[in-house]
Amino acid sequence: MTRHLLDITDLTPGELRQVVSLSVAPPRPLLSGKGVALIFEKPSNRTRHSMEMAVVQMGGHPVYTRGEEIGLDAREPVEDATRILAGYHAVIAARVFSHSTVTRMAACSSVPVVNMLSDRSHPLQAVADIITMREHAGPIDSLRVAWIGDYNNVARSLAEAVLMLGGSMAFGCPDGFGPDAAETDRLRAIADRVTTSKDPVSAVAGANVVHTDTWVSMGQEAESAERLKMFSGYCVDEKLMSSAAPGARFMHCMPAYRGKEVSAEVMDGPRSLAIPQGHHRLTAARGVIAFLLEASA
Ligand code: CP
Ligand code: NVA
Repeated sequence: MTRHLLDITDLTPGELRQVVSLSVAPPRPLLSGKGVALIFEKPSNRTRHSMEMAVVQMGGHPVYTRGEEIGLDAREPVEDATRILAGYHAVIAARVFSHSTVTRMAACSSVPVVNMLSDRSHPLQAVADIITMREHAGPIDSLRVAWIGDYNNVARSLAEAVLMLGGSMAFGCPDGFGPDAAETDRLRAIADRVTTSKDPVSAVAGANVVHTDTWVSMGQEAESAERLKMFSGYCVDEKLMSSAAPGARFMHCMPAYRGKEVSAEVMDGPRSLAIPQGHHRLTAARGVIAFLLEASA
């Protein structure tokens, strides 16, 4: 059966552990003589470079294409483009505006499809986050992770992964920007270790890791002014970090906007894991590709 990674919940907890083990193992030439299609409807630094280099380290050849060049649903339907690419490549990876684009790809692809970020989720980031926390903060089942700010694609995938591996999640998000009741129930069905609050100070209390992301995700630029207003008071600064557990670490998937969701002092300070976290995107990319190829064989 062809396996895909569109959301972290496409994996069982055991499979997520397997992805992490494959990630930290030395690369194997599983892509020798094979291609990987990398389709981007949005900009990227980490995702493009880490995926391209993971493919090279595994003996394959990455082919980068901008979404508008393929013209998904403009020049040709998503399904036609996907079926053709599946004849050239061992894996198809896409960064898309609408999550439905990757679900449509997966529905018709004979090779694994990887979500490289959609409006719903960012599973590659969550795998890198787990690897980083394990290395720098401790076993996931011992961790309380606070998410401050916008409950977005990165937050959803991180929460799913942390809960699946035995950790707990505390959200500190403004009204209307946290997980809603249905989403909180969905997360609690993964594991009943979720708290939600409007108050960032109570959310970080006892947290071993404090994680945030931009207040304005790609595709939300028109809401920028309103969002900056709604999120003022949710900047992760030294004062907020001082309410977390002693020795708590700070994480950010980047790009980071200093002075908005995080102060420069925290982002660039000794508690910050943002750079090793970004570097682990390469580690994670190898593990995800290896898992999907082996699980689909
Ligand atoms: N964190 C992340 O996905 O970064 P890019 O948008 O630069 O790929
Ligand atoms: N939430 C951000 C993550 C960027 C890596 C976005 O979607 O733009």
